[in-house]
Amino acid sequence: MPPRETEILARAVIEDDEHFLLAHTRGASNTFLPGGHVEPGEGLVACLERELEEELGISSRVGDYLGAVEHAWTDAGGEHHEINHCFAVTSPELSRAVPLRPREERLEFSWAHERELADRGLEPKPLVPLLAAWQTGDRGTWWASTLGGRVGGSGDGSGRAAAGGAHDETERGPRSPATEAEIRYADSAAGVTAGNLSGFFHGWPNPPTPDTHLELLERSDEIVLAIDMPTGDVVGFVSAVTDGTLCAYVPLLEVVPSHRGRGIGRELVRRMLAKVEHLYMVDLVCDKELVPFYETFGMRSAHAMVVRNYDRQSGSGGKRG
Ligand SMILES: CC(C)(COP(=O)(O)OP(=O)(O)OC[C@H]1O[C@@H](n2cnc3c(N)ncnc32)[C@H](O)[C@@H]1OP(=O)(O)O)[C@@H](O)C(=O)NCCC(=O)NCCS
Repeated sequence: MPPRETEILARAVIEDDEHFLLAHTRGASNTFLPGGHVEPGEGLVACLERELEEELGISSRVGDYLGAVEHAWTDAGGEHHEINHCFAVTSPELSRAVPLRPREERLEFSWAHERELADRGLEPKPLVPLLAAWQTGDRGTWWASTLGGRVGGSGDGSGRAAAGGAHDETERGPRSPATEAEIRYADSAAGVTAGNLSGFFHGWPNPPTPDTHLELLERSDEIVLAIDMPTGDVVGFVSAVTDGTLCAYVPLLEVVPSHRGRGIGRELVRRMLAKVEHLYMVDLVCDKELVPFYETFGMRSAHAMVVRNYDRQSGSGGKRG
């Protein structure tokens, strides 16, 4: 059944010490930001103040407009379409130290660390990376949409080699460039869980697990992630290690097969080179067919000498310190 209406909601982003206030309907598996439906003729700010008073009995100060997240989903009642307008909200009566007193029987509230947002089933999912980025100081206006579902799935079994692998047999063809509403770029793994990291190291015989992948992202000096906005999943990454003085090495670059050929790899490299542009030497090793790709960034070919311990390819047992 098609949606009967487009629902407009005002949502509150209430943060205390890296934790966000989440609402939950008893019996449901997902959580959502506090707030609710705008009534006819009601303003977004007035709606949010009213909802927070009704739900938690608190007075609130509605601050900056953060942006909108459009959401479409289907349940037993048919198709739904809503637009969530999100605001930063503060309240002198709200902090993690003060017990929460929900006023509506059907609702529960709790604080979740930004790393827990995905595990807590926060909907719409694009809020997970948006909140994580906001928490690290990113003040760009939010826009994300789950309309039309995710853009492909990760890991399409096309047999392509992964970052640093021996050979890439990617079938490339014209595909529409990834838009800002579909892909968000982040320079930290804040808010990313191992569950968001599937489909990488494609074609590696002995690949790192998603947990090991998350660890290497957290331990790298610099990373750029491409995050699929509808799902919060990471669909591309590039990492660098650097002495911070003269040299940087870019060991890994990969876009999951389902998202290749849409400009994501190019954007990851562009952003990483911008991060290390103050250094004297920036090196990487690549297969011959990727030389033209890197040459478009002004890089030039040189000889490389490498060691590959394939029995340690998964990264297990490879940690020191
Ligand atoms: C290389 C890789 C990251 C590119 O990601 P992507 O998102 O598909 O790249 P883009 O869509 O930004 O395309 C970048 C350009 O590189 C080209 N390119 C990508 N892979 C290529 C390959 N294997 N051989 C030759 N050219 C390639 C594309 O044709 C495109 O050129 P165009 O803009 O002129 O059309 C991706 O193919 C990948 O993950 N490959 C497996 C891992 C890998 O080889 N990593 C590099 C390690 S050094």
